[in-house]
Amino acid sequence: MPDGLFEKVKAYVVKVFTNKGSSAGIPHLERTVYWVKQLNSDADEALLIAAIGHDIERPLRTEAAIERIKDSPKGYMSEEHLKEHQTTGAKIIAEFLKENEADPDLIERVKMLISKHEVGGNDDQNLLKDADSISFFETNAEHFLTKYLPVVGADKVKEKFEWMYSRITSEQAKKIARPMYKKVMDKLLTIETNS
Ligand SMILES: [Fe+2]
Ligand SMILES: [Fe+2]
Repeated sequence: MPDGLFEKVKAYVVKVFTNKGSSAGIPHLERTVYWVKQLNSDADEALLIAAIGHDIERPLRTEAAIERIKDSPKGYMSEEHLKEHQTTGAKIIAEFLKENEADPDLIERVKMLISKHEVGGNDDQNLLKDADSISFFETNAEHFLTKYLPVVGADKVKEKFEWMYSRITSEQAKKIARPMYKKVMDKLLTIETNS
C-alpha cells in the first residue's frame, strides 16, 4: 500500500472542491474524518479515505443531474439522487485510488463504504453514515438555514434535518448529534415563527 494514501486523496478532494468554487464544503469532510475516528478509534485507512472523499460527487455534479434533482418532488432526498450521489462518488474515488496504485482490496472497501454512505447497510457503512450526520449538523446545517431555507422553504429544510438525525444508527452517535440537531431545529422554529 503506497504511503500517505489518505493524504493524497485528501489533497485531491480539496483541489476538486476548491477548483469548483466549493471550498466551503471542505470542513464537512474533515469533520467526517474526525467523527469516524471518535466513533471508532481503530478505524482503518479505507474508512478514513471514504470519509474524506464521500461527497466528491457534489462539486462534480453535472447540469443534467441538477435538473433531475429539481424535477424530483423529493429533491435532494430522492432515492434516485442519493443512489447517483453515492455510486458516482464511489467510482470517482476508486478511479483516483487505482491511478495511485492502491491495493485492490482497499479500493473495493472504499468503494463499498462510499456507495452506501447516505443510507448505510453494514456496520462500517453505518459508521460512515453516522459520522456524516454528526458532521452535517456541525458544519452544514447553518447553511441550510441561511442559504437554502429562503429558496426551498422551511418544510424541506425541516425534512432534511429530521432525516439526517433519524438515519443515525448508533446510540453513541445519536447522543453526540442530539444537541446539535435540537439547536438547528430550534433556530428553524424561531425563523418560522418570526416570518
Ligand atoms: Fe453525501
Ligand atoms: Fe457528507
